[in-house]
Amino acid sequence: MKQLAVFASGSGSNAEHLAVTFAQGDIARVAAIYCNNPKAYVIERAAKLNIPLVLFNRDEFVHAESLVRDLHDRQIDLIVLAGFLWLVPEPLTRAFAGRIVNIHPALLPKFGGKGMYGMAVHQAVLAAGETESGITIHLIDEVYDRGKILLQVSCPVLPDDTPETLADRVHQLEYQHYPGVIEQMLG
Ligand code: GAR
Repeated sequence: MKQLAVFASGSGSNAEHLAVTFAQGDIARVAAIYCNNPKAYVIERAAKLNIPLVLFNRDEFVHAESLVRDLHDRQIDLIVLAGFLWLVPEPLTRAFAGRIVNIHPALLPKFGGKGMYGMAVHQAVLAAGETESGITIHLIDEVYDRGKILLQVSCPVLPDDTPETLADRVHQLEYQHYPGVIEQMLG
């Protein structure tokens, strides 16, 4: 059984979907949820799912020593970013080289980079008049949204879309495809 660490900063619907999906099989399980935001709804989800929660501040994240120790103590095989806001620092990318995966709610390299998170991405896609958007699942290195792309799936942007309706469509793609890519990485 492989051990997943899911990092989330906000609502955590992907974190919950991953936890529930993997709990149904014997390939992997979400061993802990890591969060940088004490007000994030994902904290309630973790409690409901009975999954350990690790809350950290910016200093603990940037230096990463205690975090890396915690990840090793839990024998984490793969770090899964699911709506995580901060740039992953070098001590963490070094300790888990090639074993950190992210999901981005647009078709990178478009609409990536600093500040491009959650709703801001969908607003930018609509403002640019794009006719399609989608998801990108990629490895994490030291640069925001620039690691090796593992999968991209597109969906239409409809003329009457709001950021919320587009976010819903993109979230469905995320739930549909993220578990499978993670499973492939573990195999
Ligand atoms: C997801 O759409 C995820 O792709 C995005 O944040 C949302 C979090 O939703 N991630 C990024 O924008 C990373 N740059 P969730 O908290 O409900 O899973």
